[in-house]
Amino acid sequence: MRVLGIESSCDETGLAVLDVERSGEARIVAESLASQVALHEKYGGVVPELASREHMRSLPLLLDEVLQKGGVSLKDIEAIGVTCGPGLKGCLLIGVTFAQGLSAAHKVPLFPVNHIEGHILSGELHSPGLKPPYLTLVVSGGHTEIVLVEGLGRYTCLCRTRDDAAGEAFDKSANLLGLNYPGGARLAAAADTVAGRRSRFSLPRVGREMDDFSFSGLKTAVLLLIRKNQEALAADPTALPEICWTIQDAIVDALVVKVEREVKKRKLPLVVCGGVSANTELRRRLQERCPEVHVPPLRHCVDNGAMIAYVAGRYLSAGASAGRLDIHSRWPVETLGVCA
Ligand code: KG4
Ligand code: ZN
Repeated sequence: MRVLGIESSCDETGLAVLDVERSGEARIVAESLASQVALHEKYGGVVPELASREHMRSLPLLLDEVLQKGGVSLKDIEAIGVTCGPGLKGCLLIGVTFAQGLSAAHKVPLFPVNHIEGHILSGELHSPGLKPPYLTLVVSGGHTEIVLVEGLGRYTCLCRTRDDAAGEAFDKSANLLGLNYPGGARLAAAADTVAGRRSRFSLPRVGREMDDFSFSGLKTAVLLLIRKNQEALAADPTALPEICWTIQDAIVDALVVKVEREVKKRKLPLVVCGGVSANTELRRRLQERCPEVHVPPLRHCVDNGAMIAYVAGRYLSAGASAGRLDIHSRWPVETLGVCA
């Protein structure tokens, strides 16, 4: 089944055309992405209204681009998948309305896709041999969860965050250090320049024994660390990357401890997905500690249209019907319908 995927839940507009088989195998025909980093950079974060307007501007351009890249026309598209949540409401509305127009004009079914399910299934998209049951670490700007996947639409959250998400911990720490949006990726890039992966600074390890993730205490500890080391930060250019390394080390450690515990207990393969899975140190440590780890390629760790097309293709080829189209700023994957 040839599916067009449309993603516009936050600050990336992503479109992709995929051929999806019922078996779960898929071929990416073409994909296009427009990042809004340059637009939001001067405001220090995502401005929702500007993000919506930019999606409105980019969607028709990216549609032309993706069709041209793939050498296909809208007549070849058999279904459309569109992100309906979780995400920024205005951004979701733009994507859904655009998709509705295409679906009505070309008489193809439109399938509402959960963005987090898109991240989760990007593991199966890139590892065709991978079949449920498996565990997923979903780490993005709004989510930090270990999810047990037992089939399409069968998700159980085993561990979640009590407060901030891991991506938020990266972003807020970057902000305290004066690193501009997109802070998380900038903090990680600075940390990766530290030779020997060692730092003179340290942060307390808290909550290692807790069942859930928690990152709010870390934010306070980072603030105190920065205050205490103002002089070093001003005088020594190696201090900033080393502090970044210390922060990355603390966030990654908090994630790995709980994932390793679940993987050992359940003896299942692990998929790592969502924006924070682009983090090199997180990938490295999980690959070191867990026997079978699947991580999508970098371009599919961040938001993209391919994962959305893939989810729609999987459900529709399994005989699911589209259901009611709506948008949701919150939409836990555990509430999704079970499918064969
Ligand atoms: O999945 P995503 O692109 O958007 C959401 O659905 O939230 O994730 C974005 C999050 C941001 O918090 C960003 O700081 C974080 O992913 N991120 C990273 C890296 N690249 C993106 N965090 C740590 N290391 C990175 N290399
Ligand atoms: Zn995402």
